[in-house]
Amino acid sequence: MVDQDYEQFIRNIKAKTGIDLSQYKEAQMKRRLTSLYEKRGFKNFNGFYQGLLSEKELFYEFLDRMTINVSEFYRNYKRWQVLEEKIIPKLLEKNKKLKIWSAACSTGEEPYTLAMILSKFLPLSGVQILATDIDENVIARAKLGLYPERSLQEVPKEMKAKYFVKEGTNYKLDNEIIKAVRFKKQNLLADPFEDNFDLIVCRNVLIYFTEEAKELLYVKFSKALKDGGVFFVGSTEQIFNAERYQFASIETFFYQKN
Ligand SMILES: C[S@@+](CC[C@H](N)C(=O)[O-])C[C@H]1O[C@@H](n2cnc3c(N)ncnc32)[C@H](O)[C@@H]1O
Repeated sequence: MVDQDYEQFIRNIKAKTGIDLSQYKEAQMKRRLTSLYEKRGFKNFNGFYQGLLSEKELFYEFLDRMTINVSEFYRNYKRWQVLEEKIIPKLLEKNKKLKIWSAACSTGEEPYTLAMILSKFLPLSGVQILATDIDENVIARAKLGLYPERSLQEVPKEMKAKYFVKEGTNYKLDNEIIKAVRFKKQNLLADPFEDNFDLIVCRNVLIYFTEEAKELLYVKFSKALKDGGVFFVGSTEQIFNAERYQFASIETFFYQKN
């Protein structure tokens, strides 16, 4: 059954922000947004949209609810070990400088994890990592480099000692690591991609998109990679029919472009 209230909301949000909610899994997205508008005293999506227009705070709350920003350093630690021990050394055999992208980087834990790992191989002054997200608020937080203890649970001891300083209840990340990352606002579903990447990390965001949106993104990610470049996905995000996108699975959750 077509839900006209939600359909109209999708059209309004697209016109206002460029964000196309129809490319996110519907049941999940609707549930998240409905619980927010009910909590704020609205009866339907139409009323909620009128509210968003007049209240900036509510608009930010909406963005927050739709994006789901949870992240942590070294999320799924074993995968990062594979990256460090197998993938990065292989990439460095071919190129002395690597072009790396953390797509949908949230509050920065993922691109900063990349910077910490790369620091074991290269001087950080020569490392450039692009990190993008649709949500400006998380990018602003990422740039601050201040994290609660729970984000650091998986950080190896020596890295924690080397790159974090305790500040009250939080941990401040070293400037050297922060400087290695270039943040940019980008909507994966609408904005152009840079290209020529050796490594693209895109984890825990594609799960929210429809199958059609995912397929389009695999094509775009594949184009954005160099030949031999690697695509690193989240731990529930294996690619079905990877060869369609010129991807060969080289380790679980790592695909190489042929
Ligand atoms: C769960 S976080 C994943 C963070 C990190 N990659 C990780 O695995 O820990 C999902 C991120 O995707 C971002 N996101 C959602 N839709 C997006 C889009 N269309 N384009 C870019 N980023 C998007 C959200 O703002 C959020 O920060």
